[in-house]
Amino acid sequence: MAKTRSYYGDGALSAAYYDLITAADLRLRGDEEIYAGLAEPGATILELGAGTGRLTCNLARRGFTITGVDIAAAMLAQAKRHVEDLEPEVAARISLRLGDLTSVDLKQTFDLAICPYHTLAHVPAGAAWRNGFRNAARHLEGGGLFAVHLPRLELMRSLGPIDPRAMVKDLPLQDGRRLRLYVRERQFRDGINRLDQVLDYTVADDSGAELQRSSERLILYMQDPVIFATEAGFVLDRPPIDLHGDGDIWVFRKADAPAASAG
Ligand SMILES: C[S@@+](CC[C@H](N)C(=O)[O-])C[C@H]1O[C@@H](n2cnc3c(N)ncnc32)[C@H](O)[C@@H]1O
Repeated sequence: MAKTRSYYGDGALSAAYYDLITAADLRLRGDEEIYAGLAEPGATILELGAGTGRLTCNLARRGFTITGVDIAAAMLAQAKRHVEDLEPEVAARISLRLGDLTSVDLKQTFDLAICPYHTLAHVPAGAAWRNGFRNAARHLEGGGLFAVHLPRLELMRSLGPIDPRAMVKDLPLQDGRRLRLYVRERQFRDGINRLDQVLDYTVADDSGAELQRSSERLILYMQDPVIFATEAGFVLDRPPIDLHGDGDIWVFRKADAPAASAG
């Protein structure tokens, strides 16, 4: 059996076709406006899990100065190419950095931190989430917001049995080729709330003949983020923002540092 690649890893089709797939994903509609609405004009933003720069570039176009961090070189390389295609004054507002959201230290604070499109769910919901929230707090001043888009646990839990032959996505590529996705394995583990899936990414020619196939493992974790946020010194700023019933954007506010007590 062909080896299973890690999602967004080197050579992964999930990375190569990320832009095409997200552009067709209606569940992400409006997320950019939500993040933009959390910051004052011209604010500085830290994006944890910037990927190929889908939001990074658009938020910079809106006038924000944004630093995008991502752990996957294959994703960040595409983000760099997109930045090179921007107007120079927009590109000048973007910095990209290879790094892990749970540990990267940029030695600066931002007006807003965001962790979009299930990025935090890619890391285990234990020590890694704890470190992720602490690290976001370290990059904010008191009162700064941290917005985290997470999947809905009940949806992860209720995904039914799979049929490995059933196409779950079929998107046109150039030259009549098609990108087709299948779910080959799926397992949900209650308690640790871990959804483990192997997705087969295939490229087919216009007659339907398969030219390429890559099996890629996608693991998502979900827990109550409020517990981790509270530990890191955040308070929930508002009710979670529903993104088309598929997930929620949780907005936390870093509590002000307690005033030093007078002598
Ligand atoms: C679903 S993509 C989101 C990309 C982009 N923010 C967007 O909204 O289109 C998730 C990204 O998180 C990155 N990622 C996963 N774990 C990470 C970690 N521990 N530190 C930094 N980035 C991580 C992945 O490499 C991937 O690029």
